[in-house]
Order: sequence, then structure tokens, then C-alpha cells
Amino acid sequence: MNTRNPDIQILPSILSARMGALGEDCQKSLAAGADGLHVDVMDGHFVPNLTIGPDVVKDIRRMCPDALLHVHLMIDRPDVYVPRFLEARPQCVLIHVESPCNLTKPLAAIRAAGARVALTLNPETPVDSLVRYADLLDEVLVMTVHPGFGGQSFIPDGLAKMREIRARWPQLDISVDGGINGETAERSAAAGANILAAGSYLFKASDMATAIADLRVRCTAAAAAAVLV
Ligand code: DX5
Ligand code: ZN
Repeated sequence: MNTRNPDIQILPSILSARMGALGEDCQKSLAAGADGLHVDVMDGHFVPNLTIGPDVVKDIRRMCPDALLHVHLMIDRPDVYVPRFLEARPQCVLIHVESPCNLTKPLAAIRAAGARVALTLNPETPVDSLVRYADLLDEVLVMTVHPGFGGQSFIPDGLAKMREIRARWPQLDISVDGGINGETAERSAAAGANILAAGSYLFKASDMATAIADLRVRCTAAAAAAVLV
């Protein structure tokens, strides 16, 4: 439990993929050098948008049998729906600490399935909200946009949260999601993030492979420089 991955991971967020060619875009992302896929699930209640449900996540698994899947659940009832998403054998499930339900049960279900356990913080949610769960976690996702839509601008307040989480719980992976591009990825890696979800930046790139490689180089250098400071 709580094994931090020291390497930088770049995960395209498939919210920006073509929904009519989702399998193909997932496969292309992996072929472009992505470490895995960030799969955004929205229920129209927790966030004002709707995306995909567990059957589509299972289809992604069928199309990409070996892919590392990080499933980001922006839903009101992870306590009800986590088991359905676990049927897709994701390597990581991220639920929101703000979800209006008991979180202990879904966190335990994720752990019991052998997936990595992650909690997510919205931009206005303080790091202290993690305290009661920290021992149950492998990873914390810091949202740097208000969740619901791709293509928004990075909210820099998240950087201080990453630094605080890195200092308080050095064993945890820190992921970041929202407004990630070359510059914001670099700043996030310097602040302690090691897993970067990027949607519009990667899917709009003229060459996703080059964009992923560039993010990886910039983040690896920024993280190394931060350790030396
Ligand atoms: C937003 C989602 C993100 C989204 C990020 O609520 O959680 O994963 O796809 O998109 P970009 O990278 O375009 O900000
Ligand atoms: Zn996301």
C-alpha cells in the first residue's frame, strides 16, 4: 500500500477524444507514448455535465486490454457505482472527497479490488479534508479547474496544495488535472505532482507523441530541479 511512483506519468484525458471514435483515440494515445488513460466520468449532478458510464469504461478496457486506466469519478454516489466501474479492472479509481456520501465503503472496495486508491480535491477544497483518509490512499488528485469541462484555464492555487501534500504525505502520488500544458505541467511537477492528466492540450496537438515526450522531459527536469532546491 502507498507505493509512490517516482516517475512522471502522462495520461491523456479522453474527455477531449472523439466520442464516436473513442476506442481508436484511446489506442492512438497509447501508441503516442501515453503511460495510460485518464477516464472522466460525470453524472450531471456532481458536475454540470454528462459523459460515460461503466459499460463504456468496460469497452475501453476491451479495446485497450493492457492500458493503465485511471478512472476519475465526478459523481454524487461513488458508494453506489464504484463496484460497476471496478468491473473494467482499472488500475486506479479517483473519487472526490466532496462527494455527498460515505467514502469509506467505496475506498475500501477499490482497495479490495487491487486498484490504487485516490481522492480528488476540487479547487476550493482544503488539503486538511484529506486528514481522515490519508492512511487509506495511494494518490491525491489536485483539480486545477472546476471539474466538468475540458479546455479551461489552470487555477494556480492548486500549486500550493501540491507542495503541502508532498510535504505532509511524501509517500503519496500526486496527480493534477485541468488546464495542463507544457508550462503548467512543469510548474505542477516542480510543486510535487508526478501524474499529469491533460485533455485538450494533447488532443489538439499536431503530433501527440511529440507533445507527450515534451511534457515528460519538462516535468522530469522540473521535478529533479525541485528536489535539488
Ligand atoms: C475536467 C476533467 C479533466 C478534463 C481536463 O473536469 O476532469 O480531466 O478533461 O481537460 P483539459 O486538460 O482540457 O483542461
Ligand atoms: Zn479528470
